[in-house]
Amino acid sequence: MNATMHVNNPEAVVEADRAHVWHHLVQHKPFETVDPRIIVEGKGIHVWDITGKKHLDAVSGGVWTVNVGYGRERIADAVRDQLVKMNYFAGSAGSIPGAQFADRLIQKMPGMSRVYYANSGSEANEKAFKMIRQIAHKRYGGKKNKILYRERDYHGSTIATMSAGGQEERNAQYGPYTPAFISVPHCLEYRKREQEFGDAESYGIAAANAIEEVILREGPDTVGGLCLEPITAGGGVITPPQGYWERVQEICKKYDILLHIDEVVCGLGRTGTWFGYQNFDIQPDIVTMAKGVASGYAAISCCVTTEAVFDMFKDDASDPLGYFRDISTFGGCTAGPAAALENMNIIEEESLLENTLAMGERMMNNLHALSEKHEIIGQVRGKGLFLGAELVSDQDARTPLDEKLVGAIVADCMGQGVIIGATNRSIPGYNNTLCFSPALIATPDHIDEITDAVDQAITRITSA
Ligand SMILES: Cc1ncc(COP(=O)(O)O)c(C=O)c1O
Repeated sequence: MNATMHVNNPEAVVEADRAHVWHHLVQHKPFETVDPRIIVEGKGIHVWDITGKKHLDAVSGGVWTVNVGYGRERIADAVRDQLVKMNYFAGSAGSIPGAQFADRLIQKMPGMSRVYYANSGSEANEKAFKMIRQIAHKRYGGKKNKILYRERDYHGSTIATMSAGGQEERNAQYGPYTPAFISVPHCLEYRKREQEFGDAESYGIAAANAIEEVILREGPDTVGGLCLEPITAGGGVITPPQGYWERVQEICKKYDILLHIDEVVCGLGRTGTWFGYQNFDIQPDIVTMAKGVASGYAAISCCVTTEAVFDMFKDDASDPLGYFRDISTFGGCTAGPAAALENMNIIEEESLLENTLAMGERMMNNLHALSEKHEIIGQVRGKGLFLGAELVSDQDARTPLDEKLVGAIVADCMGQGVIIGATNRSIPGYNNTLCFSPALIATPDHIDEITDAVDQAITRITSA
């Protein structure tokens, strides 16, 4: 094995991968007869695989991550310069890029104040859960320790974040789970359950009130936190209904419950605002973020809190257990904040928030046009360049399309050189939403190429 293996001997790379790499989230049996896909290069919105095939990546690295696109030399240069100067010191000390990025980030988040560094979305969410649990112990005799999460939301792959996971297929076979995580109903109006919400005039208010019902059932003095995605990602690209978020905020205030917003997908620019929650009139207590923070150029995540939350951990310096006794070893890596600073500079200098809004609107219009043409598109949802199309076999009954057909549409697009996504092992029977999250640098031509590919794929699959 050597560094030139990629260039000289692609077969050896494929064989090494097949023999020794355990890929994420895939069944490996097919690799006995077909080659695993190996991506070797990226530039802008495109990637090339080891066979030399070029793909338009409509999912930003597969999982809505590479927001500023591939091949950004200025991020690589900033990381390199930082690494040769000072690559690492434990987060009990500060670093220059850590301080600078925290300052820049907080400027984008009015009302927020403190940045706790870690290195994955799951880990940032675990930090938030630990903060909420410790506050329960410090302030409420340990009682206010329950954390609410919502059906269809996802917060990570560790056991505690899966305990807060609302996707049954992700969770199956990995229990038992951590106690005191409690589920609240989802807010997808297209799949509303009449028996729960009746014929309430405002679905948004009714769906938020359903959270209040859970709080009252559990006892408000036992509930410390509510963890929600601003727009649910892998659970079906669910844009919250009108009035939902504002009512959720009221409920949290009423019962003294900390509002933790998981911005791991929406964070930095994906919806056309810096954060997804900024599309609504709300003020969270804790915000977690990861993927788009440095667009995958370095591993970094942040758990950001208000000063009020932070203060609860320094109110009694005489208590040896009273502060946040947590560490993330790799949260001290300086590559993350160095990359994040350049990532943020790029978003600002290239006006990528504005582009996201404009391209998101174009893509939404294109998808709506496709839904007029193809009966299998039941609903199109999303915000900015974070879009989903739920597929059905019967418009009126809203019967979810068989996931094999959903997979066939994704595979057809892949054949055309366009990588799109679909909800995957999430809700039983409802892995039927196509997902789109191209880089925020997408042009009108890219958007049209993506939706043209979907058009052709649906035409082919439905006429087969
Ligand atoms: C909303 C959300 N939260 C948390 C995570 C977990 O992030 P990570 O895989 O970096 O641990 C994900 C990953 O997809 C996510 O979509």
